[in-house]
Amino acid sequence: MTLRSVVTGVGGHLPDQIVTNHDLAKFVDTSDEWITERTGIRQRRKAKDGEFTSDIAVEAARKALAAAGRTPDDVDLIVVATTTGDLTFPACATIVQRKLGCPVGVAFDVQAVCSGFVYALSVADGFVARNRSKCCLVIGAETMTRLMDWEDRGTCVLFGDGAGAVVLEPMEGAGTTADRGLLGFALRADGTKQDLLYVDGGVSTGKTGYLRMQGNQVFRHAVVNISEAINMAAADAGIEVSEVDWFIPHQANLRILQGVAHRCGIAEEKVITTVAEHANTSAASIPLALDAAVQDGRIKKGDLLLLEAMGGGLTWGACVVRL
Ligand code: UT7
Repeated sequence: MTLRSVVTGVGGHLPDQIVTNHDLAKFVDTSDEWITERTGIRQRRKAKDGEFTSDIAVEAARKALAAAGRTPDDVDLIVVATTTGDLTFPACATIVQRKLGCPVGVAFDVQAVCSGFVYALSVADGFVARNRSKCCLVIGAETMTRLMDWEDRGTCVLFGDGAGAVVLEPMEGAGTTADRGLLGFALRADGTKQDLLYVDGGVSTGKTGYLRMQGNQVFRHAVVNISEAINMAAADAGIEVSEVDWFIPHQANLRILQGVAHRCGIAEEKVITTVAEHANTSAASIPLALDAAVQDGRIKKGDLLLLEAMGGGLTWGACVVRL
């Protein structure tokens, strides 16, 4: 028998305010046509004044707990994947713990930018699959619009705000690929590529700073790196990529996720895409896409899922999950 970390609930939350490409074109030198053609993005959500990452994380967490049939009282571990926590410290996860009203347990953030959710799942698996957590929330939550330089058309049109959450619980499996749970991972980082995607602020500067990206350079690395991670995660799980029921990529750019799917031989109809409506919500994009496809009935219990992401660092990774 093998103890597995099983996803027992999924939830997502988006701020109310919708910003379309046409809205952006009113104050940035861009067009709906350029953004749609180059990225697939049509709109994004933007948190309102006073609405912070922890607030949207809490909403997603509540929905995930309800879906799992759990309450905040059950939660003993909270891992938040975010780059846009409310404050430098405390961790967003401890703010979420307070706002949700969870008992004293373990709570911390994982900062791997857009790859954060895949990294956070792997970290949480280290607790849950060793029976050190009975009910764990893994949340990807971001207010990326707060890191935008609204005069930089190369970046400000790409990002949005949102949060997605899963509940992980330990369950015995047979130790085969038919088990429910997190079955395999591949995580990578290459700090020498920092200049391609970073925020030019932090404690070293005394300012929050703005996101800076050499988009076409990041694009070049994305398809190759992600495809490699997918094959490594599949090997770690002991599955063939062709067995996967659903592919849930990080939603950065429609062209990237289609390119990865093509390179890895994943059929178009297996690809979950929310980039048109959500834009790039960094660490929130995978759980938001998962939630969308669970809510509309495409993804069901028992389905084999492949998740992948790449982001600042550079960091990248992939994960195989049977729901
Ligand atoms: O989630 C983290 C990982 N991030 C990513 O995966 C993002 C990866 N990169 C991308 O998605 C794409 O590189 C972008 C969407 C950011 C850009 O698309 P691209 O096809 O690589 O365009 P480019 O950066 O090579 O720029 C082409 C042209 C430039 O004009 P010139 O120099 O050819 O005259 C840009 O100035 O497009 C121009 N441009 C724009 N035009 C209208 C750049 N941004 C815009 C804009 N509206 N918003």
